[in-house]
Amino acid sequence: MEIKGDKKQVLSFFRKGFFVWISLLFYQSGSAQKITFNKDIAPIVYRSCSPCHREGQSAPFSLITYQDFASRAKMISEVVSKRYMPPWKADPDFRHFENETCLKTEEIEKILAWVKTGNKEGKGKLEPYKAPELKETRKPDYVIKMKEKFLLEGNNKETFAWIKVPYDIDTSRSLLDVERLEFVAGNKKLLHHVNYEILGVPSSLDRNTKPNILVLNNSTEFDAFNYLNLNPNKSYYYGGWLPGMNTPIYPEDMGVKLPNKGVLLYETMHYAASPVNDSDFSMVNIYYKKNRIERDVKLGTVGSSSPESIIEPPLVIPADSIKTFTATAYLQSDASLLYITPHMHLLGKKFVAYAILPSGDSIPLIRINDWDFNWQLMYQFNPILCLPKGTKLFVRATFDNTANNPRNPFSPPRVCNSVNGMLTTEEMLQLGYFWVSYREGDEKIHVKNE
Ligand code: HEC
Repeated sequence: MEIKGDKKQVLSFFRKGFFVWISLLFYQSGSAQKITFNKDIAPIVYRSCSPCHREGQSAPFSLITYQDFASRAKMISEVVSKRYMPPWKADPDFRHFENETCLKTEEIEKILAWVKTGNKEGKGKLEPYKAPELKETRKPDYVIKMKEKFLLEGNNKETFAWIKVPYDIDTSRSLLDVERLEFVAGNKKLLHHVNYEILGVPSSLDRNTKPNILVLNNSTEFDAFNYLNLNPNKSYYYGGWLPGMNTPIYPEDMGVKLPNKGVLLYETMHYAASPVNDSDFSMVNIYYKKNRIERDVKLGTVGSSSPESIIEPPLVIPADSIKTFTATAYLQSDASLLYITPHMHLLGKKFVAYAILPSGDSIPLIRINDWDFNWQLMYQFNPILCLPKGTKLFVRATFDNTANNPRNPFSPPRVCNSVNGMLTTEEMLQLGYFWVSYREGDEKIHVKNE
């Protein structure tokens, strides 16, 4: 068989190819040469790093000036290329979310190229970093405050605490229409993350009995609800907070119903280690809705502590094992999902969730490839995700109960039994979702955070 095309053509092709390759190389190094902090890097890092890395916030050092970034250039290229910073656990290749804070691939490449080419400052004048001021000008209608400061011991150890804060709002209505809840960190320097819940308790229960604080350390096992003498009959709201995280904002006609007498329960207030005694006085601001809420936002769960859901096999993780479980639940009505929040404890490693429609099509919900107990986030759908009745919510999660897991609370590892995971040293496998009953047109609702 004759080979088509003669040598000349082939040569010319190679010449052309070579030329393109050489010019690409020049173009690339040319544009990389021009990458400077002032022009290219500052806009990215001011948005994505400085809100946490500044005085009075949780991050261990400031990243604001050119010198701050240049002196840590190597370390920065490492944490951004591994996507360790900024903290955003959901894999952006699986699904994007409205409140996404992770860097785009091009932004990571830009930062890496900047470091590789000698992290130049650049000539142009740089606008100094402006800290984001609180946008909220409206005063909260009610503030749920701790009864007293929570004292932190200066023992160089991280602190995990549960704190019970009863509240009574003086109003004739037993259920309040709330537009949004906003966690306000007292000690921004030490507070790392918080999960909290608003609970209703039977009126016969004295909400003020002590103890109201439970400090956990790895060697103690407690049933937190029992210890705090809490016997909740309903969970009205579940929220999380991280430095730099937005508070959930709902569309116009949606909001949260809260009881006027209830308990704010901080679950796992996580404080960084400190060598000196310190304290925290955090609070939750409540903003009422001007009009009545037409559609109240409800919390649904798949997995642990969800009665309609099945975990298979039962959540028992033998010592020295890595084990995968699934959890499933079915939507009982047409639903519009606003946020989702995956939850596991210290042995969690991987988490993936899908919605499987009655038609058999599956929709990716979230994937976390390297679960980190310290960064539990709420992920916002935009537009709202509408799912029909009968949709199967499916979660697959992997736990590592070996000595190789640096977060394993026990050395040597012990079997981890989990019924409802009320002990932090027990495990949970849970997907929480905030939802409203579906109405026509919901799939077009875009929720903006700003
Ligand atoms: C939501 C707040 C937040 C944001 C946003 C954030 N950081 Fe951090 N960063 C932290 C906290 C808290 C720590 C210390 C705890 C830790 O390492 O997890 C930290 C630690 C670091 C470390 C030290 C890591 C180590 O191994 O000791 C580096 C480097 C860093 N951040 C760089 C960055 C860069 C670069 C960005 C932006 C691209 C960024 N961070 C965005 C909160 C944040």
